[in-house]
Amino acid sequence: MKLILLGPPGAGKGTQAKMLTERFGIPQISTGDILRAAVAAGTEMGLKAKSYMDRGALVPDEVVIGIVRDRLQEPDCDKGFILDGFPRTVPQADALGKELSAMGKALDAVVSLTVDEEALVERLTGRRTCSGCGRGFHVQFDPPAVASVCDGCGGALVQRDDDREETIRNRLKVYGEQTAPLIDYYRGKGVLKEVDGMAGIAEVQSSILGLVRT
Ligand code: AP5
Ligand code: ZN
Repeated sequence: MKLILLGPPGAGKGTQAKMLTERFGIPQISTGDILRAAVAAGTEMGLKAKSYMDRGALVPDEVVIGIVRDRLQEPDCDKGFILDGFPRTVPQADALGKELSAMGKALDAVVSLTVDEEALVERLTGRRTCSGCGRGFHVQFDPPAVASVCDGCGGALVQRDDDREETIRNRLKVYGEQTAPLIDYYRGKGVLKEVDGMAGIAEVQSSILGLVRT
């Protein structure tokens, strides 16, 4: 299965992608995770990306397109993949389309998650991520059994640098201006599937499974 999860910051793309990955045995390709790993490793790309990420702006298209192009060539993508956070601009979507057709592949679906703005802010301010295994939690909607400790690996839960309210507002603005046009872009290609992302995590998962199984 070759899937894109599309939606604003905090819509639940990462949460749903991780669950789909386990279910279908295909990789999650999160450009946000790849960029954060580059920042943590202090690579040249990471240093460049950090200045954009810290203010909630998009990293230049050529950087992220290069990342995804390389990642799609890896053997674990042969059976399929879940793109989470890419594409985010029309040039990124065009580049992906060209890359996939050159590989003789096509998208099965683009799942668009819809969530109200205030709910997005609530989700992002309450999000915590495991510093050990990367698993996501929410202090209210998906809390760990022991406060600030990962249920899976026992690692410490931390807050993302860009999950401060001011940066969140800018990320949402950037989404509206640069990424939301992709909803019509993929609707026009006949692959868009819309899901109400306001429901609980398990319900959203069932909705997605219902759509991608057909
Ligand atoms: P990225 O890491 O992609 O962040 P994002 O798109 O802003 O998305 P998030 O990870 O914040 O949200 P999500 O939808 O995955 O929500 P989650 O499942 O965690 O990008 C970060 C930055 O990197 C960008 O700002 C940019 O600078 C750069 N970048 C990345 N990709 C790029 C690209 N292609 N081009 C250019 N720049 C790029 O859920 C959020 C919280 O809500 C969690 O706590 C979760 O537990 C909770 N939750 C989830 N679902 C539900 C639910 N149904 N009900 C209640 N709570 C829920
Ligand atoms: Zn963990």
